[in-house]
Amino acid sequence: MTEPEGSPPAGGTEAGDAPVLRTRGLGRRFGGLFAVSDVALALRPGRTLGVIGPNGAGKSTLVNLVSGHLKPTTGSVHVGGKDFTGARPWRIAHAGVARTFQIVKPFRGLTVADNVAVAAMFGPSPVRSPAQARREAEQVLERVGLGGRGGVPPAELSVADARRLELAKALALRPRVLLLDEVLAGLRPAEIDPALALIDELRRDGLAVLVIEHIIQAIAAISDEVLVLHHGTVLTQGPPRQVLSDERVVEAYLGHRYTRKNPS
Ligand SMILES: Nc1ncnc2c1ncn2[C@@H]1O[C@H](COP(=O)(O)OP(=O)(O)OP(=O)(O)O)[C@@H](O)[C@H]1O
Ligand SMILES: [Mg+2]
Repeated sequence: MTEPEGSPPAGGTEAGDAPVLRTRGLGRRFGGLFAVSDVALALRPGRTLGVIGPNGAGKSTLVNLVSGHLKPTTGSVHVGGKDFTGARPWRIAHAGVARTFQIVKPFRGLTVADNVAVAAMFGPSPVRSPAQARREAEQVLERVGLGGRGGVPPAELSVADARRLELAKALALRPRVLLLDEVLAGLRPAEIDPALALIDELRRDGLAVLVIEHIIQAIAAISDEVLVLHHGTVLTQGPPRQVLSDERVVEAYLGHRYTRKNPS
C-alpha cells in the first residue's frame, strides 16, 4: 500500500463538493474472471449513490474492495484524498468508512447493545468509557429501531433486526462514509419507508452514502445518482430517472427480474 500521509489530496480539498471517497479503475479477479472491473466512483458528503445490478454483478465485491475486506487486483481507493488502496479494513474504518455486511456478522457472544458499544469504543473517534459507549449504543439502537432490544443476544434477532444491528454497528463508528449492502432485505413492506427515511436522514446529516439494494423504487427514492453494475463493470451511471429508463438497464436488470417474476 502506498499512503502518502500529509500530501495534499488529489483533486482538491474535502470542502464543498469534493468526494470523500473515490475509486479509479477498481477491479478484482477471482481465478480467471474479474468479479469487478474498472469501477470509477465518487462519494460526496450529503449525497447517496445507489448501486444496483443482477445477482452476481459484483456489488458486494465492490463494497469489500472499498472497505479493505478484499484487496484490489487493479485500481485505487482514496479516502479524504489519501491513498488507501490495499489497506487493512481497520485502517479504512478509522479513516471514517463504515459498512454493513450482506451476511450479518455480529459478535455472537455479546449482547446486541455490547456489539454496538464495541463499535463505539473502537471507531475513529472512540468513546473511552464502557458506560459512555453503552449509552451511545442505546441511542444508536433507538435510532435504527432496535430500542429495548439491547439486552438480547444477536441470535434472537429476526433477519430484519439483524440487519438493523449491522447498521447500528456501522453508525456507532461515527463514519463519514457509509456503505450499505442490502440493509433493507428481509424488512416487511411497512418497515421499508421508515428505513429509507433513516438513510436519507443520515445523508442530510452529511454522510456520504453508498446503498446497494434490489428494490428499485427504494433506490430511486433516496439516491442522487444510481450506478448499474453488470458482469462487474459499470453499465451506466446517472440520475435515477435517467438510469432506470435506459434500455440497457431495463434489459440487464429490470427485464431480467421482471421476466423471472412474471414467466409467460
Ligand atoms: N471470494 C470469492 N471467491 C471467488 N469468487 C467470488 C468471491 N466473492 C465473489 N465471487 C464471485 O464474484 C461475483 C460477484 O459476486 P458478488 O457477491 O459481488 O455479487 P453481488 O452483486 O453482490 O450479488 P448478490 O446480488 O447476489 O448479492 C460472483 O460471480 C461471485 O461468485
Ligand atoms: Mg451481494
